[in-house]
Amino acid sequence: MAPQIQLGLVGTGRIGRVHLQTITQRLPQARLAAVTDVNQQAAAAAAEAFGIAHIAPDYDALLADDRIDAVLICSATDTHADFIIKAARAGKHIFCEKPIAADLAQIDAALQAVEAAGVQLMIGFNRRFDANHQRIRAAVDSGEIGTPHLLHIISRDPSPPPLDYLRVSGGMFFDMTIHDFDMARFLLGEVTELYAAAGVLIDPAIGEAGDVDTAVITLKFASGAVGTIDNSRQAVYGYDQRVEVFGSAGVARSDNLFADAVTLSNRISVYRGLPLNFFMERYISSYQAEIAAFVACLVTGQPMPVTGIDGRIPVLMATAARRSYQENRPVRLDELLTDG
Ligand SMILES: NC(=O)c1ccc[n+]([C@@H]2O[C@H](COP(=O)([O-])OP(=O)(O)OC[C@H]3O[C@@H](n4cnc5c(N)ncnc54)[C@H](O)[C@@H]3O)[C@@H](O)[C@H]2O)c1
Repeated sequence: MAPQIQLGLVGTGRIGRVHLQTITQRLPQARLAAVTDVNQQAAAAAAEAFGIAHIAPDYDALLADDRIDAVLICSATDTHADFIIKAARAGKHIFCEKPIAADLAQIDAALQAVEAAGVQLMIGFNRRFDANHQRIRAAVDSGEIGTPHLLHIISRDPSPPPLDYLRVSGGMFFDMTIHDFDMARFLLGEVTELYAAAGVLIDPAIGEAGDVDTAVITLKFASGAVGTIDNSRQAVYGYDQRVEVFGSAGVARSDNLFADAVTLSNRISVYRGLPLNFFMERYISSYQAEIAAFVACLVTGQPMPVTGIDGRIPVLMATAARRSYQENRPVRLDELLTDG
């Protein structure tokens, strides 16, 4: 039997607890050796909920724990790049939540530290592990829908996150659209140019925090295909997650997921319940599959399925989207490469 992988986790908030649940309840080949969080109460509550024996006083102490083979970085976005560098220097393999950072120079420093240390790094683009998205990708790869011409991603949250979260998130393009940029690459390959039309239509406080809450981004792919991403921070009917790839020989389309498959009909209408409300319900299987994939790669030594470069390119796209929105013009991605 392969030895058990010992894991440490930093950041026991929303997503940290999702991963703790997967590791402690579904992955016998991994063991959660310790957790830490600047909010010690949050760490203590998570440790109790998931039966974790050790709470490290801080991240440095977690990294100093010789039992730990790999860390999961689930703390706020503005900690990720620094925490990757520290983990790499401590010789730990790393799973890091998206995005690595909003700043490309910080990402490059983190990726260099990983390379220099020779540790493995996986970025948490969980939607690649969703069964619907994988089936659409398979339809593209197999030629079932011919040559892809159009991509449409509708990605709307049920409600905006708290302002405290927004302020350290990097903004909507870096925090939310980042998943859709990754999905666009996952399905149709590299994007060469994009144009972002965006605004503040939901809450003026989001605008005062320097962010937007509504956007449509048009994409041009290296293949010649074109696409759109449609984002809102507030869909009153719940989490709206739909993807369509239209090609020369057909179309592959995924709809929202629901708690049940029942429709009710009466004299007035045909109706059904709302879509699953948010990411923790809609994407739970994908989170479980991504952590299982991470642990499997640690066990086998296989390359990680979502690499540091896969983490970097969507941030480049988000940077282009921000510039496009600010300057109200299409932005080529290679324009940013020559910025240095
Ligand atoms: N892949 C996904 O679908 C997904 C979903 C949600 C969040 N995320 C990402 O995960 C990260 C956390 O998001 P969340 O929603 O869980 O946020 P959260 O605010 O619920 O939790 C973050 C936790 O990190 C802790 N923390 C912050 N700074 C720290 C530090 N310096 N040291 C130790 N702990 C620290 C906080 O106390 C908090 O408990 C963000 O980067 C976010 O983008 C990814």
